[in-house]
Amino acid sequence: MERTDVLIIGAGVAGLTTAIKLAERRSDLSITVITKAKIGESNTKYAQGGVAAVWDHQTDSYEKHIADTLDAGDGLCDEEIVRMMITEGPARVKEIIEWGTRFDKHNGRYDLGREGGHSEDRILHYKDLTGWEIQRALIEKTKSFESISVRDQIYAIDLLTQHHLGYSVTRANDDITCYGAYVMDKSNNDIQKIEAKVVVLATGGAGQIYRSTTNPLIATGDGIAMVYRAKGRIENMEFVQFHPTALYNPAGENPDFLISEAVRGFGGILKTRDGKEFMHKYDDRLSLAPRDIVARAIDNEMKIRGEDYVVLDCQHLDKDAFIRHFPTIYNKCLSVGIDAMKDFIPVVPACHYFCGGVKVDQDGKTSVHHLFAGGECTSSGLHGANRLASNSLLEGLVHADHIARVIREEIDDIEYREGIPDWDAMGTTDPKEMVLITQSWKELKEIMSSYVGIVRNNVRLKRALTRLNLLYEETEDLYRTTTLSPQLFELRNLITNGNLVTRFASMRRESRGLHFTTDFPDKQDFLDVTVL
Ligand code: FAD
Ligand code: SIN
Repeated sequence: MERTDVLIIGAGVAGLTTAIKLAERRSDLSITVITKAKIGESNTKYAQGGVAAVWDHQTDSYEKHIADTLDAGDGLCDEEIVRMMITEGPARVKEIIEWGTRFDKHNGRYDLGREGGHSEDRILHYKDLTGWEIQRALIEKTKSFESISVRDQIYAIDLLTQHHLGYSVTRANDDITCYGAYVMDKSNNDIQKIEAKVVVLATGGAGQIYRSTTNPLIATGDGIAMVYRAKGRIENMEFVQFHPTALYNPAGENPDFLISEAVRGFGGILKTRDGKEFMHKYDDRLSLAPRDIVARAIDNEMKIRGEDYVVLDCQHLDKDAFIRHFPTIYNKCLSVGIDAMKDFIPVVPACHYFCGGVKVDQDGKTSVHHLFAGGECTSSGLHGANRLASNSLLEGLVHADHIARVIREEIDDIEYREGIPDWDAMGTTDPKEMVLITQSWKELKEIMSSYVGIVRNNVRLKRALTRLNLLYEETEDLYRTTTLSPQLFELRNLITNGNLVTRFASMRRESRGLHFTTDFPDKQDFLDVTVL
């Protein structure tokens, strides 16, 4: 058993920034950050395009960034939250610059890029490796605080609540309280409890429920599933963002490699395989329309033409500048035989981002007491029905600042909870076959990709739910009887996320933002966020 004042689950932008902002002002607090992977492995690390922040007030303004965010969010953003994130964002970005993050400059000024849905150039970036650079700087900064202990290969299984003390807890309870988490040490599969006064979830998204995704293997929606099991509030799960341009991947690499939207911001043009432009049929902003529109347009063109991909044409762009801005993308394309300066880059949409998740308020408070959440695992009100490009890293930074401030103010009134039992592993036997887990995961990906993808309808959703229920039953059976493993925990969480996306999609009887159903192709005036 272990005790820590604050337990942070997740070491991406949201988790590490929260830890740093806590430690900076309260060196008396013990802060434990756990990550189930190697330190540094996160969605954050793969972010390419950059961080959106109003930087040049001569050409840009908060009002413009707010308007772009609201427009992309298609009526479901919380305007107060949008205003808060966008006006506070630049100060948070300045902080990470002070902590050592590098962003590209041109003639001594930050080189601001553009992405889909943005009306101005406002994306700070470090080549096409912005996330890697931010992750690097945050890890370095974290090391300068003795009060922060970062432990990798520690898998959070479930949140400790009154349920573990034998009380019945339902979604109707408004006093559910978090006391820590059960975790598995992946080096020996030992399950321990970590008791904490406050827990912060920063576990990222769940892209791995789909066959094609830009998200790394860690993106299994563990935090969302843990909160759902703890009977906390989950919101807006139907709004899964498909990035329009992942590199076409016939070899089935997991994850899919992203061709950043910044490439279109730099002048890359979407075309069909025979070299014809098509975006004018869908939106005046052409290749730089918001993602939901571009992804649906590509999906439609592929279906009409019976083709497996469309292409991104960059051949007209300045070669030196392209390679300077996008060295990783250029080299990745070369590695599969594509010279982006001479050939079309074949691209397809791939699952990229979860706009919904754990419902939080402006300070990252969840519906469970003493449980905060930040970053992609949340539904904060910033993204609504569709996230504006490069607003996610921004959200992680601003959330972290609020969460840390509130914890600093409130933690002195919180006590550890006594009497939490150790994990009970009775009744389990040795795992029989890993294939049971891997096959179920493949099935889940097939179900989600075939029936709950970019274009949905009632028949597909119903079919998905029936199949997901079967997978759920089989997996719960395995969970009750086999020796537990991180793979099994992840499978369970993936299925929960798939189920939530499908149920939320079934509840939304309209098309809005990222949720498009042929049964209800129009927007309804009276429909708001969906909550469970
Ligand atoms: P993550 O960075 O995903 O971190 C999650 C952490 O939680 C990891 O440390 C993980 O190991 C840990 N974890 C998860 N489950 C458990 C568990 N059960 N136990 C213990 N630890 C756990 N956004 C932008 O704003 N701009 C971009 O340019 C951009 N580009 C992107 C490019 C790609 C390819 C991808 C995939 C995403 C991109 N995004 C971008 C989105 C953005 O990167 C993420 O939304 C953001 O980084 C999420 O940060 P986070 O801290 O919430 O979660
Ligand atoms: C990209 O570089 O296209 C990803 C940006 C984002 O997801 O915000």
